[in-house]
Amino acid sequence: MIGYTSAEARPALERLGSEAWQVALSYLYDEQAQRPVAPESYGEMRQHLFGNRGLPARAPVEPTNSVDILREFQDRLAPRQFNAAHPRSFAYFTPPPLVMSIVGELLTQWLNQSVDLWQAGPSAALIEEEVVGWLRDLLEMREGSWGVLTSGGVMANIMAMTLARDVHLQRRLSLSSHERPRGRALAGVRVYTSDQAHFSIARALSVLGFPRETLHLVPSDDHFRLQADAVAEAIAADRGAGYLPLAIAAVAGSTNTGAVDAVPALADLADREGMWLHVDAAYGGAARLSRRDAHRVPGLQRADSVTIDPHKWFFQPCDIGALLVQRREDLRSTFMSRPEYYRASYNSEEALNWYEYSIEGTRRFRALKLWMSWKHLGTTGLGRLVEHNNDLASYLSERIAESPEFEAVPALPELSVVCFRHLPPALRHARNSNQEELDRHQDQLQRALEISGEAWLSTTRLRGRTYLRAGILNYFSTADDIDHLLQTLSRLGAEVGGI
Ligand SMILES: Cc1ncc(COP(=O)(O)O)c(C=O)c1O
Repeated sequence: MIGYTSAEARPALERLGSEAWQVALSYLYDEQAQRPVAPESYGEMRQHLFGNRGLPARAPVEPTNSVDILREFQDRLAPRQFNAAHPRSFAYFTPPPLVMSIVGELLTQWLNQSVDLWQAGPSAALIEEEVVGWLRDLLEMREGSWGVLTSGGVMANIMAMTLARDVHLQRRLSLSSHERPRGRALAGVRVYTSDQAHFSIARALSVLGFPRETLHLVPSDDHFRLQADAVAEAIAADRGAGYLPLAIAAVAGSTNTGAVDAVPALADLADREGMWLHVDAAYGGAARLSRRDAHRVPGLQRADSVTIDPHKWFFQPCDIGALLVQRREDLRSTFMSRPEYYRASYNSEEALNWYEYSIEGTRRFRALKLWMSWKHLGTTGLGRLVEHNNDLASYLSERIAESPEFEAVPALPELSVVCFRHLPPALRHARNSNQEELDRHQDQLQRALEISGEAWLSTTRLRGRTYLRAGILNYFSTADDIDHLLQTLSRLGAEVGGI
């Protein structure tokens, strides 16, 4: 049945809703709670999911009833998810979603608004304006600032670099307001970022047509932070060689270690040099939710543009990212267009048409889940969850510092990411001559942990060496879970190394 108008439709829909919610709760209690991920390797999972040949099935020609589809979901898919809500899931930047956000997502799908032209999502457009206002206030951005929700941080970073090109470079090259810098006008431009920046900054410059050498990677300091002195030196050398320093792309909460670049000093430098400052606070911006921890991400309000992703540390289900800008006109002048099929009988100049502020066209009603869950917990409640994660990260580092078996880099986390490695006794004392063996050991340990189902963390490379990486964006985790993680790693470390 696909209709809702017949007499039997409503009870059938009520039944389906209740069955679907039961399936969701079975997933929560029977699967999420069991282990962070399935133990299967990639190849095994393809076989178990698709059958022996490991190939996807053809499109269904005949119908199947909803009960069977839900059963198939439960049997085949539910056991093969990444379970961010497991208390020992110390994942990338995927949080367990807040229940009120899930309810918001459910309603979003029922409403199916297209938040591009005002009329296609009338109240959704205004709720997005409201939620973006909350984000701007959180970062203490000035009057006249603006923002737009995006699919995530990559899209927000691409849009920010588009503004640096079409607003700032246009100005620097003294082009008329109709001329956009393209082709040869992009040669000789430099954009500065650290070796810890997210890959999307490089991707943005590439898709925007900048030559490869535009990105000037400046080495981060011992704590993986970009310092203004190092950027100033790079700018001076580039100016001497005849290049045009255009923008600094800093990060507040790096993907690797949660490092926060020296944003206030970089803002001073950008001011002095007449450069665009973008801050990628996709993850770290959420620290502003906490009065106690807001100081850990200073200076965001001084950037020309800021990326902030509620689907990271605001505990929202994906997708919802955001780009915030100091001047509303920067976004509108960059993305404005007036296709003939978006004509309207009302005064569309007056109405809020989000497609005029974004690369994207059809956009989901992303704001609803954040609007509902922010109301539900308040800034205070959300901030408490962030504090809890920061406290757990500090606790994990303290436990590591006390143990000869582990080593964290950096020793203290700035936010809620902890990178560390296990040092088996045989390799502990001659670390420098055993680096490759140590690297292999971390990979083996990560896989052993995954198979054990006791906990999950990823690995990364820092200064060319392999580390375990715990991203703590999980409000279900406790200090006991941290202890359990280290005990398990210690036990598995002895087993995998045979040492
Ligand atoms: C610092 C930072 N910026 C940007 C992104 C990209 O965000 P998304 O994957 O939501 O597009 C990430 C993702 O982890 C990130 O850590």
